[in-house]
This record gives sequence, C-alpha cells and structure tokens, in this order.
Amino acid sequence: MQEPAATDSNLPVHIAVIMDGNGRWARNRAKPRHAGHRAGVKSVRRTIEHTARRGIPYLTLFAFSSENWRRPADEVSKLMGLFVEALQREVDELHRNNVRLEFVGDRSRLAASLVRKIESAEAHTHGNTGLHLNVAIAYGGRWDITEATRRVLRRVADGSIAADDVDEDVIAGELQLAGLPDPDLLIRTGGEQRISNFLLWNLAYAELYFCDTLWPDFGEQELDKAIEFFACRQRRYGHTGEQLEALEC
Ligand code: IPE
Ligand code: IPE
Ligand code: MG
Repeated sequence: MQEPAATDSNLPVHIAVIMDGNGRWARNRAKPRHAGHRAGVKSVRRTIEHTARRGIPYLTLFAFSSENWRRPADEVSKLMGLFVEALQREVDELHRNNVRLEFVGDRSRLAASLVRKIESAEAHTHGNTGLHLNVAIAYGGRWDITEATRRVLRRVADGSIAADDVDEDVIAGELQLAGLPDPDLLIRTGGEQRISNFLLWNLAYAELYFCDTLWPDFGEQELDKAIEFFACRQRRYGHTGEQLEALEC
C-alpha cells in the first residue's frame, strides 16, 4: 500500500461504500450467509489498499447498520465475531501502512470485548497520516442526527450556545463524522439503489454510484470504474451548468 498522494480535482476526496450482497454471493454458491461475510472481508482489504493507492484521503465503509440488529441472532453474532477477528488480524498491517482507523456508530450496543478492540485500534493508529478509514458498525443516519440533536440541546440548556445560533455547522459539528469532508462519492454494491439509513446528513451532495456486483466480487477494477464515473460528473451545488462554465474560463 502507498501513501496517499495529493488528490487532483477529478478524484473524490471521500468515498463512502455500502458493502451489500454478501448473503446473495453465498447463496449463489450454496454456502451459508456467513461464508459471504467472510469473503466480504477480503474485498474490504482490497478496497482499502486500492483507495490508498489511488491517493484518496478518506474512506467510510458501512459494515453493520442499526437495522441489521433485526437479523437472526446467529448471523449477528457471527458478524460480530468476524469484526473482532478482522480487527485482530488487520490492525498491525493497517498501522504499517499509515492508515488511521476510526469507528462510527452506537458503541453502547456492542459487546465490551469488541469495544475494547475498537478503542485500542483507534488509539494505535491515531497518529497516522495516510488514508483516514472510518468503519460504520451499529450505525444509522437517523440515530446519528438524533444523537447530534441531543448534544446540541444540552448545549442550549447549559447556556453555552443560544438556540438562535444553532446552524448547519453546529449540527454537523456534533455528527459522527464531524470535522471530515462530506463523502463526495457513494458506492453501493449488490444492485439495490437505496441509502438504507447510511450517512443521511453527510451524503446531501454525494454522487451516487450503484453497481450490481456483489460485495465479495468487488475489486480494484470496479473501484476504478466508480472513480471514473465520479470524474465525469459536473457538481453544480444548485448552480446552473452555464454559471459553472463561466467560472471555469
Ligand atoms: C451486506 O451484505 C453485509 C451486511 C449487511 C452486514 P448482506 O448480508 O446484506 O447481503 P445480501 O443483501 O443479503 O445479499
Ligand atoms: C445496508 O445493507 C447495510 C450494510 C451494508 C451494512 P442491507 O442489506 O442491510 O440493506 P437493506 O436492508 O437491503 O436496505
Ligand atoms: Mg443486503
């Protein structure tokens, strides 16, 4: 893995990924769903390495949603086991590659042993200056906004901010990804075209890239295709195309 290089303007700065399709990948091979999740870990590794190689500074991966708690207990517990195992196995290598690893989501719902691994991985890689990798576990966009709102309300109640001074920046500053640039490219594998309660606030202006590839089959070429798709988009942020073309001359 290489150090992230300076990004050019056609490269996304922050890629977010909804890694979907593990269960179908397994079913297509007459294997248990868990085999698909296990195969998915390899795609995670490939994606992290290639994102760093392409010089993209931020990557946020959706690994487990607040709604995924509704899955059968056995699948949930095997997934949690896989997170612990992957952390154990991968953190040293991520650290060697200068990756800064952080987790977003509701830790109060996770087992203490997993939270300890998460905290130690975060502390271990905190000073790294390469790819900034966020992994979303037990994360929901509505949960994130609700928690942020609660924190803002506490600040209003204790008088540290006036209600009239609460603006978008104040709310954004309380979200899980506070201080990071918003994802400018969202990739979802597995053929569904929905957000599934991922980063509802932060994805406001993301370019959306959906592909049919099931997550365990996702690799470097697919990632390059998504980056190429992004490079061809004109990001207007409410302006007209003509306004932007005038600015460019
Ligand atoms: C994504 O794959 C992984 C998680 C949600 C944990 P799925 O498990 O949703 O795979 P499909 O959608 O059933 O194929
Ligand atoms: C979204 O995938 C969550 C993750 C990839 C972690 P799901 O497979 O859970 O989404 P839905 O249920 O099809 O919307
Ligand atoms: Mg799915």
